[in-house]
Amino acid sequence: MHPCLEKILLNEDEIVARCKELGQQITQEYKNNEQPPLLVALLKGSVPFLAELIKHIDLDIQFDFMDVSSYEGTESIGDIKIIKDLDCSVKNLDILLVEDIVDTGRTLKTVKAMLKNKGAKTVRVVTLLDKPDRRVVDIEADYTGFEIPNEFVVGFGLDFNQKYRNFPFVGVLKEECYK
Ligand code: IMP
Repeated sequence: MHPCLEKILLNEDEIVARCKELGQQITQEYKNNEQPPLLVALLKGSVPFLAELIKHIDLDIQFDFMDVSSYEGTESIGDIKIIKDLDCSVKNLDILLVEDIVDTGRTLKTVKAMLKNKGAKTVRVVTLLDKPDRRVVDIEADYTGFEIPNEFVVGFGLDFNQKYRNFPFVGVLKEECYK
């Protein structure tokens, strides 16, 4: 195991199995919709989750990316900047926002409001991880992979200073490696 890891919280098999369940649930819930959802994934953390999840969604979905930033090191800070906007219009579309983790909830709340302002018909959220103890704004994902305790995690897309995104599992980072 990597020397900066305290423990593995979720292994690859557990994550893949949960993505399969989420994909099947999403397929069921959107299959009678007028149109399949457009998945909007937030860069960069949600990329491995998106890649696994879409294998299990049996609909003619499309996806696009947005990059917003509010995070420095391990502490969430207030304002959200758009670094990369969507390539396509979301007007009258059913959007499924794909997140790696909902922490304070600020990113989600802001991006959801942005997509509504751009004319999205509906905006639902799927997140791999949720840290409910850290929430400061009142918002929940519609589909959650795993609720986790208030610990700083890396892997399966999640980073510390842009590192460790490539771990095929989610692990807890040792405090001494980020404090
Ligand atoms: P929020 O706006 O506070 O909900 O923050 C969401 C973003 O913070 C996520 O998309 C992650 O990029 C980052 N984040 C929150 N908790 C962690 C963590 O434990 N490890 C890595 N990144 C995290």
